[in-house]
Amino acid sequence: MTNRLSLRAATLQDAKTLLAWRNDPQTRAASHNTDEVRLEDHLAWLESSLKKPEQRRLWIAELDGKLVGTCRADKEDDGWELSWTVAPEARGQGVAHKMLSQLIETFQQPLTAQVKKDNMASMKVAERLGFVVEKEENGVLFYCR
Ligand SMILES: CC(C)(COP(=O)(O)OP(=O)(O)OC[C@H]1O[C@@H](n2cnc3c(N)ncnc32)[C@H](O)[C@@H]1OP(=O)(O)O)[C@@H](O)C(=O)NCCC(=O)NCCS
Repeated sequence: MTNRLSLRAATLQDAKTLLAWRNDPQTRAASHNTDEVRLEDHLAWLESSLKKPEQRRLWIAELDGKLVGTCRADKEDDGWELSWTVAPEARGQGVAHKMLSQLIETFQQPLTAQVKKDNMASMKVAERLGFVVEKEENGVLFYCR
C-alpha cells in the first residue's frame, strides 16, 4: 500500500474502463454530449486520439494499483483544455484534486476547463487548483489558469 496516486498515459487496453466511466450517469450529466457512447464509436475515438498526442493527451490515474480516474488535455491555440473524470467508486475522496495537481505541474502553457454550473464538486476542484472563471455561457463556466 503506497496510497500514492500516479499518472500514466492511457492505452487501448484502457478502452473498456474509459467507456464505463464515460457512460456512467454522473459523467454523462457533466458532459456537453449527454448521450451514451457506443463501444465502436469509443474505440474509434480512442484509437485516433492516441495517434495524435500533439492534439490530445489522455492519462489514467492509479492509486494502490487501482484505476481511479482519467484526465484529458485537448490542444487549443494558446494552451490546453483539461477535462477529468473520477471512477464512480473512487469519488468523494479528493482524487480529482490529487490527479490534477500532479498533471498541471507538467504544463507551462495556459490551461482552460469547462464546468457545468451545477457541478459543484468540479467547480471546487478547478478553483482549488487556481482556475478562475473567465466567462459563463448557457450554464457552463469557462475557467482559465
Ligand atoms: C466531479 C468529480 C470530478 C469530483 O471528483 P472527486 O475527486 O470525487 O471530488 P470530491 O468529492 O473529493 O470533491 C472535491 C471538492 O468538492 C467538494 N464537493 C463535493 N461535492 C460537493 C457538493 N455537492 N457541493 C459543494 N462541494 C462539494 C468536496 O468537499 C471537495 O472540496 P475540498 O477540495 O474543499 O475538500 C467526480 O465526482 C466525477 O468524476 N464526476 C463525474 C464526471 C465529472 O463531473 N467530471 C468533471 C466534468 S467538468
